[in-house]
Amino acid sequence: MSNDHMTLTETSKLLLHDKEYELPTITGSEGEVGIDITQLRNKSGAITFDSGYGNTGSCESAITFIDGEKGILRYRGYPIEELAEKSNFVEVSFLLIFGHLPNKAELEKFHFDLTHHSLIHEDMKKFFEGFPPTAHPMGILSAMVSSLSAFYPEAGYNADIKLNIVRLLAKLKTIAAFSYKKSIGQPYVYPRNDLNYAADMLHMMFAVPSESYEVPNVVAEALDLLLILHADHEQNCSTSTVRMVGSSEANLFASISAGICALWGPLHGGANQQVIEMLEKIKNDGSDYKKYINMAKDKESKFKLMGFGHRVYKNFDPRAQILKKSADKVLNQLGVNDPLLDIAKNLEEVALKDPFFIERKLYPNVDFYSGIIYRAMGIPTNMFTVMFALGRLPGWIAQWKEMRETPGARIYRPRQIYVGETKRPYVSIDKRK
Ligand code: CMC
Repeated sequence: MSNDHMTLTETSKLLLHDKEYELPTITGSEGEVGIDITQLRNKSGAITFDSGYGNTGSCESAITFIDGEKGILRYRGYPIEELAEKSNFVEVSFLLIFGHLPNKAELEKFHFDLTHHSLIHEDMKKFFEGFPPTAHPMGILSAMVSSLSAFYPEAGYNADIKLNIVRLLAKLKTIAAFSYKKSIGQPYVYPRNDLNYAADMLHMMFAVPSESYEVPNVVAEALDLLLILHADHEQNCSTSTVRMVGSSEANLFASISAGICALWGPLHGGANQQVIEMLEKIKNDGSDYKKYINMAKDKESKFKLMGFGHRVYKNFDPRAQILKKSADKVLNQLGVNDPLLDIAKNLEEVALKDPFFIERKLYPNVDFYSGIIYRAMGIPTNMFTVMFALGRLPGWIAQWKEMRETPGARIYRPRQIYVGETKRPYVSIDKRK
């Protein structure tokens, strides 16, 4: 048991084929109850079945708490609303990875390390040159992160891990910005140590050698907020992927690279790009948003309201609530009047009153408004998920580190219920139909 707050007191009973099995019950620090089935197969021969892992606890974790019914999200016990208002991304990253808010000296050292490790090896520039200009930046990001393992090998877990964590946090924004510059055919802009994390990222994306450029404060602050809101979300698809790959004791870079690929999918982090593409489609179709609500309700159409619904949140996504307010503020401050924001608000208003969405508890998620803010900041649509990855990185690292440091952690290896053919003899080719 790795968590001091977890108690293993009660037992539960399972009746299977007239035989009773006693199973231990685990209670977490927020009163969440889990039935420990690790010995069930040994005792009864049965496994549990849970397609999509919707009701399976894969680990004990002390990093992030979510109560989806109440719309609660906390990193290491701190409410997301407070962190969004009072903290910054570098501090939140430290909190997630090391478990406590840094003191002044710790924060200064962390910030120093993140700036002074932000250059990437010059040889890596050759890799960028090999990609076609049409390459999606998520593909480039994942390949580059995996290739970091060639430059910074892990000789043993304890020897290099802290340094590699800092390197990865520091370099991901450089890699992300370079992948953007590559896609638009502009020269790479190197990191600047005098800028904070978000401003440096934006400077590397938008500065050009021919003119001086300073990142507007409102844009850097908006990005910092987005990164905080994305920083962790317990055992979601990409984080579980990071843990899954890391459970084989694959190195940090390989594990995070796999997480980036998982995040790319349109049902996960790729949804922010899909939301904007959907809103643009609605706008080009005469802004008839009600037609698209009807399409989302019609299963035959295969159309989903992107940015709506969540596996865990069943009342509201607290991140979406913060972002809805932020979208208004950022667009106002930048003097941007985006018709897509009005379409998004209209869609939300109609959907929230519609029985289809009410019955299924479908609410806007974090991706619904984030794309509109990214657009106002001048970030191109195919970079949205890259920004999500940048934000999620400290969460992935924290979860990977927690798993590697858990005594007795085992390789992830789910079971299955086999439903294929039973044993049959091989048929030679001349006898096959
Ligand atoms: N539009 C229309 N119907 C939907 C939607 C949607 N966006 N989402 C779910 N439903 C319906 C679904 O068809 C199902 O209906 P029924 O019970 O009649 O079969 C019901 O709601 C339950 O949905 P589900 O697919 O079983 O839910 P899930 O927990 O497996 O999937 C989800 C969650 C987020 C993948 C899904 O809601 C979805 O595809 N949403 C759109 C993509 C999206 O916005 N993804 C970003 C998630 S938040 C950011 C992140 O962490 O990645």
